[in-house]
Amino acid sequence: MAIEKIVVVDDEMMIRKALETQLRNKRYSVASASDLKGARKILSRDSFDLVFLDLRLPDGEGTDLLEEITAKTEAPMVVMMTGYGSVESAVSCMQMGAFDYVVKPFSFEQIEVVVDKVASFDKMRRVTKYYVEESDTRSSDIIGESQPVQNLKNLVNKVAKTEASVLITGENGTGKELVARELYRNSMLAKQPYIRVNCAAISETLMESEFFGHEKGAFTGATDRREGRFELADGGTILLDEISEIAPALQAKLLRVLQEKEFERVGGNKTIQVKVRVLATTNRDLMGEVKKGNFREDLYYRLNVFPIEVPPLRDRGLDILLLATSFLARHARKHGIEEIEFSKDCVKAIESHNWPGNVRELENAVERAVILAEKGNAIEADLLGLQSAGGSKSTNPSKILDIESGEIESMEEVERKHIQIALQAFDGNRTHAAEKLGLNVRTLRNKIKQYELEG
Ligand SMILES: Nc1ncnc2c1ncn2[C@@H]1O[C@H](COP(=O)(O)OP(=O)(O)OP(=O)(O)O)[C@@H](O)[C@H]1O
Ligand SMILES: [Mg+2]
Repeated sequence: MAIEKIVVVDDEMMIRKALETQLRNKRYSVASASDLKGARKILSRDSFDLVFLDLRLPDGEGTDLLEEITAKTEAPMVVMMTGYGSVESAVSCMQMGAFDYVVKPFSFEQIEVVVDKVASFDKMRRVTKYYVEESDTRSSDIIGESQPVQNLKNLVNKVAKTEASVLITGENGTGKELVARELYRNSMLAKQPYIRVNCAAISETLMESEFFGHEKGAFTGATDRREGRFELADGGTILLDEISEIAPALQAKLLRVLQEKEFERVGGNKTIQVKVRVLATTNRDLMGEVKKGNFREDLYYRLNVFPIEVPPLRDRGLDILLLATSFLARHARKHGIEEIEFSKDCVKAIESHNWPGNVRELENAVERAVILAEKGNAIEADLLGLQSAGGSKSTNPSKILDIESGEIESMEEVERKHIQIALQAFDGNRTHAAEKLGLNVRTLRNKIKQYELEG
């Protein structure tokens, strides 16, 4: 998809209308606003690819809106429009995440050039996002000062410099992927590709072709030759996430790549050589799986050259609060909320909860609380789905059972709320929400429709 939907925000009617008409003539779908308020309304209604944004508007600065836009994950690109007098501010907008700026008065040719530039940049961005999951924009540093986390960081720094395979273990949501990324970023291969494969998310039938690629006509649907993840990762690092889920038939082939550094594409007979550093994660007891006969022992030892165990959140002492406050700041910023804090009771509840879902549970709870928080009030424990004063834990903030009135919510209502919470927690990202809810994306989509929820 190229650029399709564009928003023009300018209070000068002449400029707005001219740009609107010319862009429409080029078959873009265009919406326009004369102030920030109108622009916000348009942007909340639909998703757009590009925004032309004036620097000064009657109800505020374009930069305010720029900040709101760039804080979103699937944000449109922004091009600032400015007069000669304020080119400097336009340049500083680029540091804030604007893609480019144009100086008024501009010709439509200039605009066309910018739109083309945005389109090709956007395409490149999507391609790299799909194949090479580079460090994302938010800081991915491992937060934590506790002894277990300090030990972890030391180990990561040491192991990163070697080219050995690493097996990262730990409970759900402890930060295994984060550790993998740190290993990569601190390694000699940090400038080379980093390819992640989520073994749990790929069906057994497709896994081999995902790993090793396929030749044209290898199976129904293989209309083209395709490179597998190992080929894409050549010279760099591959992360085999949730390695315990790898199909048994594939374990032997994986072992061969690790030992001989070679494989064939599905349906092909040419042997392909690669040099790839392998990182793997699991939240299962992989040795236990070996004993049960579900996982090859030789493969286990190949992967487990360096074991790294990520400690559960409940063992990290004060880090729990450190993480909670840093997530609070991050999500408040993301949702445009200023000055928000946890109440004293809430702090106690956070410290005494045992966080079975670890850092991910904490982060999701904090984000949900930020969304539900009332302006100006401190966050109370119930917004985090916790009971105050260290009581027993509940993780559902919706009131399913009202004991006094004897009212019980229907399954449908509970499901509807649960899905809504999941969608909020993942910023409307259906793939992530579906994964966490244990649904496939299609089922989730149908339920969103059924319950008339906003995706
Ligand atoms: N020490 C930390 N500092 C900051 N953020 C963290 C830390 N640990 C985890 N996170 C964040 O928590 C979330 C979960 O981490 P991650 O996905 O790495 O966990 P995981 O162990 O791979 O989980 P799973 O077992 O469910 O796959 C991520 O958003 C990650 O950035
Ligand atoms: Mg993970």
